[in-house]
Amino acid sequence: MLVVAGPSSVTLAEKTAELLGCSLVKVDFKRFPDGESYVRLAREVKGEKVAIIQSTYPPQDSHLLQLFLLVDASLRHGASEVTAVVPYLAYARQDKVFLPYEPVSVEVVLKTLKCLGVKRLLTVNVHSPEALKRVELECFDLSALSLLAEFFAGEGLKGAVAFAPDRKAARLAEEASRILGGGLGWFAKQRDRVTGEVTSELEQGEVEGRKVILFDDIISSGGTMKLAARKLLEAGASEVYAACVHSLMSEENYRRLLEAGIRRVVSTDTIPTFTSRVSVASLLADGLRKFLEG
Ligand code: R5P
Repeated sequence: MLVVAGPSSVTLAEKTAELLGCSLVKVDFKRFPDGESYVRLAREVKGEKVAIIQSTYPPQDSHLLQLFLLVDASLRHGASEVTAVVPYLAYARQDKVFLPYEPVSVEVVLKTLKCLGVKRLLTVNVHSPEALKRVELECFDLSALSLLAEFFAGEGLKGAVAFAPDRKAARLAEEASRILGGGLGWFAKQRDRVTGEVTSELEQGEVEGRKVILFDDIISSGGTMKLAARKLLEAGASEVYAACVHSLMSEENYRRLLEAGIRRVVSTDTIPTFTSRVSVASLLADGLRKFLEG
């Protein structure tokens, strides 16, 4: 197998290829003066199984297009099959029609990959795993929750309560709680689709005098975590931490989380950013081994 280092995930691809003990295909990448992307594989891929690692964090549209171009380049030049490894899958949050006349963005992305000839997709904690089943493409959703929980356990937080800011994230907190061993809790959260206003109520879990780690798939504006942290502190939590797989947070929003009383915010390198403390390289390597070579 060859690992292609997509322009958005060069370091992650290097780490993954090293763990797999397979060759890395570098990509010549440049931007044309009008903003369009140019990519070229730096070596032959004929007859090879190719795994393209390209996360689609902002600028999502450019990163997606670069992925599409790399799939075309690989298959056009003889790769025997292509696996798209997209640690952060853009457009996954629009996984249904919320308001009349909207598209379902995640389906558009998956159908495009299928159309281009991708054999399978590996992603990490996609927002809606159910959406992956609606398109005829082999999709595997890997979870980085154990890696995040192990990070906190290594920082002396074994025994902390794993908490989810909403019911949907409860399954993520549950995974983390298996490693942390300090119990589980979650909020019932509601978001107004038009105004975006978020409200939430603690639905399950005891936090008085306890250290609590909030787990979610994404932090973007930080509004969800901020609200949950405030409620946990009001309910008597002694310390609150936050972890997410994909951090889309600006430094300003990060500062607001610290001001709200969150002691530390940690994310993975699906999106390489200032909170990335946990690498998903081992997760991708294991996934590629399992699904390609198994
Ligand atoms: C929503 O369902 C997601 O799981 C996250 O809770 C949400 O995307 C976080 O967004 P924000 O940080 O803007 O509140």
